[in-house]
Amino acid sequence: MSAPNKDFDPVEVTPLRADELERVRDEAVAAVAAASTLAELKQVRIEHAGDRSPIALANREIGALPPQARKDAGQRIGQARGAINQALAARTAELEQLEEQRRLVEETVDVTLPTDRDPVGARHPITTIQETVADIFVAMGWEVAEGPEVEAEWLNFDALNLGPDHPARTMQDTFWVTPASAARVLRTHTSPVQARTMLTREPPIYVVVPGRVYRTDEADATHMPVFHQVEGLAIDKGLSMAHLKGTLDHFARAVYGTEMTTRFRPSYFPFTEPSAEVDLLCYVCHNDPAEVASCGTCRGEGWVEWGGCGVVNPRVLVACGVDPEVYSGFAFGMGLDRTITSRYDIADLRDLWDGDIRFTEPFGVGL
Ligand code: PHE
Repeated sequence: MSAPNKDFDPVEVTPLRADELERVRDEAVAAVAAASTLAELKQVRIEHAGDRSPIALANREIGALPPQARKDAGQRIGQARGAINQALAARTAELEQLEEQRRLVEETVDVTLPTDRDPVGARHPITTIQETVADIFVAMGWEVAEGPEVEAEWLNFDALNLGPDHPARTMQDTFWVTPASAARVLRTHTSPVQARTMLTREPPIYVVVPGRVYRTDEADATHMPVFHQVEGLAIDKGLSMAHLKGTLDHFARAVYGTEMTTRFRPSYFPFTEPSAEVDLLCYVCHNDPAEVASCGTCRGEGWVEWGGCGVVNPRVLVACGVDPEVYSGFAFGMGLDRTITSRYDIADLRDLWDGDIRFTEPFGVGL
């Protein structure tokens, strides 16, 4: 027998010594026991059983041993490894079960908790004001009419005396529907419903038309590319500007109270002649000389813009099949969004579009 080869004495190869392997194993088993989540355990597995773990490194040393020492060392490593793997498997099962239990507890729905069984929600102020307006006019015997938001170019413009070359066409920044050959637009106002109504009914006509309209405005605090208007149209024998003024005064008082008055300023719309802008007396300062100068609502004007109106242009009556020798009428249209933001001091028009119940709730179910 040759003398032991001192260079490869197993006692000298520290990682393979029995006590060292026990230490490595104990450390690994302790780390496994200390892992309190599956994620932590994954880290422990890498550190204590992975390719670069002490046990794996020890295993690599076996090749350096003389053949007769390899078997023993191999066995010791195998045992240590077995113990570590067993501990890992047992802890994995335990933690999986714990996490499953925790998830069950966390995700439990307590069906016995008291709830608001009947949440009433809140109506949007635009809806409420549309209905208020409709009610005011229905009470006077008018009807509510509606039309499509994707509208024929002819009804949105031509029928309303806005021919292809009319300069006022460009006043209304229009969304065109493709293809251009379809000759359709997103309606820029509710006035095409005037044409639709005259084309489908015989006078006398008294309709009020709430609806959405579109213009190519960038959305910001005071502009939106979509907003709401309410249109009115009356066609009968002998109607004049006086009836228009009386109707709008009544409308204004019904919405803002009996103290309210309106004023007309001359204006221009292709579909009415004469035309006017209608203003409301400022509902905050009431044009009171002591307050008007500092009023933020009307900015010192005493009046707030409300809408446009006028006597229906005979050319529109003709285009829509109504005989202007027999009938005359008046029309008006106002924006609802600005009415609401100015009335309720809402600084940002976009609040009307967020769909946030915390915005609509204070309006409650009434306005
Ligand atoms: N359609 C006009 C607008 O959108 C308002 C209007 C309606 C003016 C009816 C007169 C008559 O600006």
